[in-house]
Amino acid sequence: MARKKIIFGNWKMNNTIAQARDFCDEAKVISDLAKTKDVIVGVAPSYLSLQYVVEHKESLWVFAEETHYADHGAFTGEVSIPMLQEIGVQGSLVGHSERRKYHGETDLDCNRKIKALIKANMGVMYCCGETLKEFDEGLAKDVIRAQVTVALMDLKESDLARVYIAYEPVWSIGTGKNASEEIAIEMCSYIRSIISELFSPTAAEKISILYGGSVKPYNIKGYLSSEEVDGALVGGASLTAKSFEELIKEI
Ligand code: PGA
Repeated sequence: MARKKIIFGNWKMNNTIAQARDFCDEAKVISDLAKTKDVIVGVAPSYLSLQYVVEHKESLWVFAEETHYADHGAFTGEVSIPMLQEIGVQGSLVGHSERRKYHGETDLDCNRKIKALIKANMGVMYCCGETLKEFDEGLAKDVIRAQVTVALMDLKESDLARVYIAYEPVWSIGTGKNASEEIAIEMCSYIRSIISELFSPTAAEKISILYGGSVKPYNIKGYLSSEEVDGALVGGASLTAKSFEELIKEI
């Protein structure tokens, strides 16, 4: 069965509750458009807006941008999976490069979070990607292999039904320097080959692998027209309903 395309918005530290409300005023329009185009659409708002967005999401998927692996405890400033589940959040991003850069998150931390999310029957959008230095040194594939292998350690093949992978080269995030379609296709298919080795060819066939990094309405089509790229994880262009709608219209 063909994999459905996915357009997922990562709001980062943007959109106040009032702005999230404006976005949700268009949730029905966005959901109807997604249905017409037969694509899955989702957003990851900041914690404060999560509940409002969940309550007004129509058919959008709603993930958190981040979560802790422990159910509760002395972790000041963190939010746990049971807290997210209590308000109906369906999953979480894990391993975004900004979390790795500003919060020192490691592949092993990501592995703990992924295992905790799967145990709780939640979705996982696992982000991986090389820095510009690693890209320039020809290390992109080695970096991705390590990031994917460690993050998915101890998972069973059936667990992958809840896992989505986003290839997001760090040098393309928020820079306007989106990766070429060739790079996105090559890296997404490389990740698929790693899944095939680690799990099975069937698992590789089933898993959705997205590209992220300066995806805009004017370039999304190029990525998604390839069979290898199952969707886009979008930051800046996902913040308003209008821009989000434009992304979907381009599919
Ligand atoms: P961008 O962000 O679309 O603003 O480059 C992508 C991301 O960080 O997921």
